[in-house]
Amino acid sequence: MSSKVVIYPGTFDPITNGHISIISRALKIFDRLVIAILNNPQKLPLFSLEERIQMIRDVLKDQRHLEIDSFNGLLVDYVIQKKTNVVIRGLRALSDFEYEFQMALMNRKLNREVQSIFLMTDYKWFYTSSTIIKEAASLGGDVSGLVPPIVCRKMKEKFGY
Ligand code: PNS
Repeated sequence: MSSKVVIYPGTFDPITNGHISIISRALKIFDRLVIAILNNPQKLPLFSLEERIQMIRDVLKDQRHLEIDSFNGLLVDYVIQKKTNVVIRGLRALSDFEYEFQMALMNRKLNREVQSIFLMTDYKWFYTSSTIIKEAASLGGDVSGLVPPIVCRKMKEKFGY
């Protein structure tokens, strides 16, 4: 039987404990997972692509069956290029639903072979996102417990404290 690969796309600026929870749960369903980081400098990320990749490498160094990659252009084209047809995303509270639904339907319009599946975020990470964590950290807030310690350190360095 061929192994089933799932693509986990996102900005990962930076990776959070919510992302990590989705990754480890997805790996209980799929044989291999590709973290696909959107390389879109127009989004003005806090961390460069290389920094985001390095943090993920450091944090998930013990996780097997994992690939860390970047992409630009259409997600559905990238998915096909990786010789699979499944995308996974985490779903938090209601606020995510409309955005995720829109993306999933657009991706489906662009390529009907590509299926989007969703895992409900663990309740512990329901209110967190990279954006809100960055905002709190930029103002000196303590975000430990929401991101891995390495990421916490890197954010402190970025924000200069
Ligand atoms: O972590 P994010 O920022 O919510 O991830 C969004 C992402 C990267 C999954 C989305 O922006 C994306 O897939 N971009 C690639 C461009 C694309 O395919 N657009 C058309 C479908 S929405």
